[in-house]
Amino acid sequence: MLQKTTFLSHSYAKPDGHTLAAYEASGGYTNARKALGMTRDAVVDEVKKAKIRGRGGAGFDCGTKWTFMPKESKKPCYLVVNADEGEPGTFKDRTIMERNPHAVVEGCIIGCFGIGAHAAYIYVRDELHLSKERLWAAIEEARAKGYLGPKPFGIDYPVEVYVQTGAGAYICGEETALLNSLEGRRGEPRYKPPFPAQVGAFGCPTTVNNLETIAVVPTVIGMGGDAFCRLSSLALFNDGGARLFGVSGHVKTPGVFECAVGLTLRELIYDLGGGILGDKQLLAVIPGGSSCPVMLADEIVNVPGDPRFEPYNGKSVLDLPLGVETFRAVGGMLGTCCAIVLSEDADPVLALHNLMRFYRHESCGQCTPCREGCGWIERILDKLVEGHATMDELDQLHRIASDITGNTICAFGDGAAQPVLSFVRKFRKQFEDYVLTGGKSQTKKLVA
Ligand SMILES: Cc1cc2nc3c(=O)[nH]c(=O)nc-3n(C[C@H](O)[C@H](O)[C@H](O)COP(=O)(O)O)c2cc1C
Repeated sequence: MLQKTTFLSHSYAKPDGHTLAAYEASGGYTNARKALGMTRDAVVDEVKKAKIRGRGGAGFDCGTKWTFMPKESKKPCYLVVNADEGEPGTFKDRTIMERNPHAVVEGCIIGCFGIGAHAAYIYVRDELHLSKERLWAAIEEARAKGYLGPKPFGIDYPVEVYVQTGAGAYICGEETALLNSLEGRRGEPRYKPPFPAQVGAFGCPTTVNNLETIAVVPTVIGMGGDAFCRLSSLALFNDGGARLFGVSGHVKTPGVFECAVGLTLRELIYDLGGGILGDKQLLAVIPGGSSCPVMLADEIVNVPGDPRFEPYNGKSVLDLPLGVETFRAVGGMLGTCCAIVLSEDADPVLALHNLMRFYRHESCGQCTPCREGCGWIERILDKLVEGHATMDELDQLHRIASDITGNTICAFGDGAAQPVLSFVRKFRKQFEDYVLTGGKSQTKKLVA
């Protein structure tokens, strides 16, 4: 159901929406003040009731994650906010940082209080220059006003917020690689366990949350967790509230839109995205960043045995509400909820080739299946688009991707394998055409 909201995006249209004055004029910082007057448990309870599924891609429940932090700790605790945003097709966090940075700062104050931390690090991809400038300015303004520092709002709970920049490696968005990078080490993922809540930044208990997850927390405290959750039509699926939906690729009006959870792909592509470029037919969509399996335009929902899916069974996947559980159940993934749209003019072979050049380049090389597998896949795809690949190599693509899956330290490997597995299976004919005719029968030339 298309229900636009403006909790995070209320300031987007205003040229000065990023300033403290504008933020406070719309009620900004009253929620952090309120939270610091509550108990820590009460704050976490509200966040749990809100059923915020982590907006960074994995969709873990935010309130539950906060409960993993120790109640008492001899070591300092930290909040780390993930604003690396390197997933192809994803540009929602940057929009928040540029246009509503005070929501992030306010979210950090509440988040720190909720997990027992006194410092938050916001890890921002270095090339997002305006994002950094806006965050630095917002932190300065909040500090000058006494909202950050030793006594925020006169309350004896010191909070500091720092911006740390990364150097633009996709792997540094993975939470433990991010922690290594934050500490000045090489950005390689760590083994888990121990999880960050046990051993995180600088060996101390840490919660890593996506930037959007943190930015929406003030809204949750303001309206109450239950009320926030009920905005969503997927509360039955433990997926509450409102979130940012992105759409890019072959649509007329790409962008970021804020809506209640429960929006469908059809609404995202045709209502918010303005429909397909040139009024062409929709070929396929990658629902939430490039690491999610591609979905064909004519896929049908079929989830027997779960009464929650009764309204959707037999219908197009385009009419299934976008949620963490709903898309998992149909063999898809919601990811960052930023859809990449492919029109009938797109060549899926070239689109996969393009994506796999990215994954090969970004693999950190720590795990053999990922390091070697991504390179091997890219080489086969190189041959395929040049017209020299064999049918056996087509099958090898599937085998290599399957062997990467589940065999690496972090989820990068699975994220690289998903596009291969889904593209080769769902566009088998187009891939075989490249083997048989060197791609000459393909008249389509657009890459996503
Ligand atoms: C290769 C890779 C890249 C990732 N990049 C990001 C990212 O840029 N931003 C982000 O928030 N999460 C990213 N994640 C997910 C994080 O590891 C982590 O799950 C997330 O920051 C947790 O926040 P959330 O629970 O609020 O979603 C990435 C994961 C992987 C495997």
